[in-house]
Amino acid sequence: MNPYDAAAALDLQPLPDEVVTLLNEHHAPPRLIAHLIVVHHIANQLVSAVRRTWPSLSFDPYLVQMGAALHDVGKLAYPSELVSDGDYHEQAGYDLLVSAGIDPDIARFAITHSGRGSQSKLRLEDMLVALADKCWRGDRDRSIEDMLCHRISTDLSRPSWEVFSELDTILTSITEQSAKLLAWQSLYPPE
Ligand SMILES: [Fe+2]
Repeated sequence: MNPYDAAAALDLQPLPDEVVTLLNEHHAPPRLIAHLIVVHHIANQLVSAVRRTWPSLSFDPYLVQMGAALHDVGKLAYPSELVSDGDYHEQAGYDLLVSAGIDPDIARFAITHSGRGSQSKLRLEDMLVALADKCWRGDRDRSIEDMLCHRISTDLSRPSWEVFSELDTILTSITEQSAKLLAWQSLYPPE
């Protein structure tokens, strides 16, 4: 079963149509498609939980969803980075998306999803995509979580310990699906 059909059977949210079109045009390998489906699915759950927990927090859910759905598209050019570490795919992804006519505000996630940029240059949306790309597999990245907590506590004038505790509750719940998602993604070959 291809990842698109299998994702529907597993109740994973479908990728946006324009993303599917772009991936098909570039003959994306099944592993990359499965990975983008998983991170997009988790990013949607993160967006819902963040809106529920901090309703007055200002951010653009659409950017998070599109960013998650496209973040690793540069691995089309660097397929070895589907199975081993590397960051060549980041700038390559940005270039590919911009040349495909994607808004640079969305293409930026190809670079920022590493979460390595300076905190002041990262938007809340960048941090949420970076977090989704870690926590889908059960990884808890303290530096991204700290950055996000700091940003939320500053934006909402709330104590950071309180924000951290609420974020921890969100991530504990989201990471309960990790084993299932990891097993599903690994069904699909990287080429
Ligand atoms: Fe990723």
